[in-house]
Formats: sequence, structure tokens, C-alpha cells
Amino acid sequence: MPRKKIVAGNWKMNLDRAKARELAGAVAARSGEAAGVELVLCPPALYLDAVGAALSAAKSSVGLGGQNMHDKANGAFTGEVSAAMLRDLHVGYVILGHSERRSIFGETDEIINAKMLKAREANLKPIFCIGETLAEREGGQLEAVLRRQVTEGLKGLAEKDMAETVIAYEPVWAIGTGVTATSQQAQDAHAFVRSLVAELYGADTAARIRIQYGGSVKPGNAAELMACPDIDGALIGGAALEPQSFMEIIRNGLEN
Ligand code: PGA
Repeated sequence: MPRKKIVAGNWKMNLDRAKARELAGAVAARSGEAAGVELVLCPPALYLDAVGAALSAAKSSVGLGGQNMHDKANGAFTGEVSAAMLRDLHVGYVILGHSERRSIFGETDEIINAKMLKAREANLKPIFCIGETLAEREGGQLEAVLRRQVTEGLKGLAEKDMAETVIAYEPVWAIGTGVTATSQQAQDAHAFVRSLVAELYGADTAARIRIQYGGSVKPGNAAELMACPDIDGALIGGAALEPQSFMEIIRNGLEN
């Protein structure tokens, strides 16, 4: 069975409430252009409620995702958001292990793994991000880094959890830099990640899991990237902040 493509917009710490609502409304209004593709919007946590309401008002099937969550259920964790709080706002997905969380906020594979387990316990679908730095790639460490991130990050997840998990391969050097991996570099990394999933969970799970590419995806490179056999969609930062570029990426990606 072909894998359904999934394109998610990671709005990061951008927009205000009115703009978040407006962008969600614009994407919902144009979501018919993305027939056959699953769309997910990941606004800042404070705006999940407003964006969720805008999507429901438009009777849209566009999904809602968080950008992060804590791995504990509740308690004295000032400033944090729990999995149950996300569920309370009808959030379906959550981005975990984004390279900005890893590098700026010091999230280790162990922390990310605890979040993955908590997300699944709460029935959230993780968008599990992995990817190497430029130094790691140039130092010949690409496969070792991906192997460590996948093995450690997915520890303890059952096969049934993998059916609800999306992996996002995002080379750190391509995020927000305007530099995109070539489609060959991306395809090679995706095929390797799929082979790691096969080692851990078997061929069927590996054939079914969706692996998004992320890192400076734009309308101009979406078609080539999404034509690769192991690329099942995109996780989009900067270009997801405008409905025009977000929808154009999806349309171009669908052309093949
Ligand atoms: P970018 O971000 O598209 O702005 O490079 C992607 C991401 O961080 O998920």
C-alpha cells in the first residue's frame, strides 16, 4: 500500500494570535488543493486552542500538532506543557526531538525517548525528528548519528506505536539556512533510516512508516524532494508561515 504523504508546518515561535488564526483559516480554505495528503499545523502552544477553533470552524480535516511537551504527567515543572494538556486541546500530533530542542534546550536522546513514550501513552502521534550536524556529516558520522538517535529515541516503543509515529529527517545544517540537502543526500539518509526501522521492527513496519524531509523546503525544491521513493512528505518551518508558499510546496510535491 502506498504511504500517504504528510506535510506539517512548524510555525516555531512566530506569529501572534490573530495571525495564527488567519494562517490556519487560509490553509483550511485551500486544503482541497492537497487531496490525498495529510496536513498538520504546529503553532506555538499558546495558540493551539485558537488554531484548533479556526480549523473546526472551517470544518477542516487539517490536523493540529504541538511543537514540544514535557515527559512527566503533571507537577512542579514551571513553564512546561503536558501530553494530557495537548490532548485536552484536541491536538493529534507532537513534534519531538527537533534539533532546536536538542541543541538550544539540551534535550538528550534519553529525554526525547521519555517524551516519545509519554506521547504514545497519551495517544499523541509523535513527529520524531532526527538529523546530523554539518561537522558530523563531514566527519563521516552521518550513519552513526542517525543510528544512535533512532535506537535511543525509539527505545521501548512497541510495533503498534510505530504505526502512529512519523519520522522527520532534518539535517541540522539545512534548517533555516536556505541550504537544502540534495535530493540524493536526502533519499540516501531516508533509505538508511528506513533500514534502521526494519532492523528494529521488521520489514512491514519499515515499509509503512512515513519519513518526512525537513530543512529549507521551498516551492522550488519540493517536487524533486518528494519524488524520492523514501520521502513521504515534509516538515516545513519558514515557508509554512505563508499560506501561498505552504500550499505551493504541497502542490509541487504532489506533481509526481
Ligand atoms: P525550515 O525549518 O523549513 O525553516 O528550514 C524546518 C524545521 O525546522 O522543521
